[in-house]
Amino acid sequence: MRAQLLHPDNIDAVLASMTLEQKAQLLVGGGNDGFAGSGAMLGHQKRLVAGAAGITVEMAGLGIPSIVMADGPAGVHIDSVREGTDKTYFATGFPIGTALASTWNTELVEQVGQAIGNETREYGCDIILGPGMNLHRNPLCGRNFEYYSEDPILTGKIGAAMVRGIQSQGVGACPKHYAVNSQESDRTKVDERLSAKALRELYLRGFEIMVREAKPWTIMSSYNQINGEFVQQSYDALTTILRREWGFDGVVLTDWTGVRNTAAQVHAGNDLMMPGYPQQVQDIIAAVGNGTLAIADVDTCVRGMLELIVRTPRYKAYPYSDRPDLAAHAAITRQSATEGMVLLKNDGDTLPLRPEIRTVALFGVNSYDFASGGLGSGCVNTPYVVDMVAGLRNAGISTTPLITDIYQSYIPFATKKLRADKDPLMWFLDQGQPKLPEMEVSDRLIETEVTQADAAIITLGRQAGEGMDRTIEDDFNLTAGEHRLIRRVSEIFRREGKPVIVIINSGSVIETASWQAYADAILVAWQPGEEGGNSVADVLTGKVSPSGKLTMTWPVACSDHPSTRNFPQPMSLYDYKERANWGCPIEFVHYTNHAEGVYVGYRHFDTFDRPVAYPFGFGLSYTSFEYSRATAKLQGDEVVLSVTVRNAGERSGKEIVQVYMTIPGGAVAHELKAFAKTRELQPGESETLTMRVPVRLLASFDETDSRWLLPKGEYSFAFAASSRDIRLTQKVRLNQYTEPVHPVLLPEE
Ligand code: GLC
Repeated sequence: MRAQLLHPDNIDAVLASMTLEQKAQLLVGGGNDGFAGSGAMLGHQKRLVAGAAGITVEMAGLGIPSIVMADGPAGVHIDSVREGTDKTYFATGFPIGTALASTWNTELVEQVGQAIGNETREYGCDIILGPGMNLHRNPLCGRNFEYYSEDPILTGKIGAAMVRGIQSQGVGACPKHYAVNSQESDRTKVDERLSAKALRELYLRGFEIMVREAKPWTIMSSYNQINGEFVQQSYDALTTILRREWGFDGVVLTDWTGVRNTAAQVHAGNDLMMPGYPQQVQDIIAAVGNGTLAIADVDTCVRGMLELIVRTPRYKAYPYSDRPDLAAHAAITRQSATEGMVLLKNDGDTLPLRPEIRTVALFGVNSYDFASGGLGSGCVNTPYVVDMVAGLRNAGISTTPLITDIYQSYIPFATKKLRADKDPLMWFLDQGQPKLPEMEVSDRLIETEVTQADAAIITLGRQAGEGMDRTIEDDFNLTAGEHRLIRRVSEIFRREGKPVIVIINSGSVIETASWQAYADAILVAWQPGEEGGNSVADVLTGKVSPSGKLTMTWPVACSDHPSTRNFPQPMSLYDYKERANWGCPIEFVHYTNHAEGVYVGYRHFDTFDRPVAYPFGFGLSYTSFEYSRATAKLQGDEVVLSVTVRNAGERSGKEIVQVYMTIPGGAVAHELKAFAKTRELQPGESETLTMRVPVRLLASFDETDSRWLLPKGEYSFAFAASSRDIRLTQKVRLNQYTEPVHPVLLPEE
């Protein structure tokens, strides 16, 4: 049959005209400079768009272009400079996933998605490899910064908003890593062993909500196993659940993996093997030839690829500009970062800073080496990062010159030393800003500073990223040097009646209980993107009231999380350095036992009434809010919830209302089922928020009959300012709801 040029209306004809070689080639990416082992690797290639993660192959005779995939999720990861031109290709550094989720503002997240989608398109890419949506099972996961929450509903809703935003620009999102990729240790082999209830209710639910509500063009299958099956070759994960139950109609592409069982991957419904190796093309041809792979399975994947390709800017020959509106996107990143910051403590209304505070003493290396994002594929080559000095200066607040000079001369020295020491295999240190060791500060220097400053600000920074998990010592917990710094600065500045503010510049949770008493105010700035220092200053000066709330529990001790017992814990960074294979830095049993089941985060702490440092959903404002007129009623197959929020304070602000449902006799005390955020309310102003929840999302998973089940009965809905600050409660009578699902991906007996 004469070859036809691909068109949206002739996909079957093109498919019929393709040779087996062409079909096989289309299911395998265009290659990478990495090794072809079974390990993990970063996507980086120089063709078409330098620095983008990967491409597919071109078949000009069929009118099939290469399409380009670039990492995210916090911005387009491409090289900022290219050979042969002095033009630059900086991309906007948006806030990390956790910071965006902490806004609880789906409209705002969708706007960020639009900006990311626009930059993806204008830099000539077709797919952005984000959002990251794995659950925060435990604070020690190195990539929590790229993910959203310990709660699946919040994860799903924020992920759906991000996907809608990205895809509104005519490019594809690639939510990742489907699924249960909630640790970095041993990530390419680890077998995540968990109950059907935990799998369905926690680790799949967020992806399910996102797929049903936002219809991503693609999704990324994760490296790991689930209950003994590699996801990348699991028919049950990729076809039975993802396609048949949830209605996913896009392309599944692997994470950047070496050569595995290619025939099994294709049969499972993994359409595209990335980054792609010639061996995989031969594997497909051989498997069809020897009957171990049905050509029908190949055709299904090829059809999926053709349907994806005709949607892409490259297929449409979109004349991308290579000059997105970085200034406009910087404004969006600044606003979204500000709105995602969480005020944990504000004794005596320390914040916003009083007008007479004109000079501050800035302590902590990350005040100056401010981390805009995390490490690994999720880092972005930004045009700049606004640190705390610049952010405060832009807000009219100066920093004391002496300690500023000392830190700013320390940073290049510490950076050089760290890079000189790094193990050649610690590749991720080149992907973003590593955490520099804290600089010792003498009492004598603090005594000098207190005479020059009206207040002290201490920034505690943490860095983490792809390929390695965190440690409890000197990472989740503060180092001895950090403890001393906070204690001495606090003692000296408080002696002079001057406030001490701590800024947490981290993508992950840290320990706070042992030192929070030394701080008058604590603000979680997360890793807020390139405008970080300006966003922090927006909050410190009161230009914006903080309105972010925690999307994960901050425990008193890391070991308070039941999952910590079963979380791989390298004893130190040294563990990584001494192990040759960075992908599995410490000896493992190659499986993780989710003994805690559904008791993750507030589901554990609230069910067993355990103390926490700061609860899920917690965040202070510069004002206060009163809730009234809560209603909950069944309308068709939805429960409609509404509540009126009034700003009862003296400053404007936004409030996030959370609604938790209690299932009588259920496994957990309560579960988040809905949330909404007010607009900026002026003092005295009110807004009535309405939330609609499909009854199907109220059900819990019944393992006995492999079904979602909501028994007939009366249910209470708690309208809350956090998971531990219930304001109003309403009851609703609901009929039984059941939804059978395939009994697949079950734990091995
Ligand atoms: C990495 C990451 C994935 C990323 C991909 C391409 O190993 O796991 O998140 O998108 O490879 O760089």
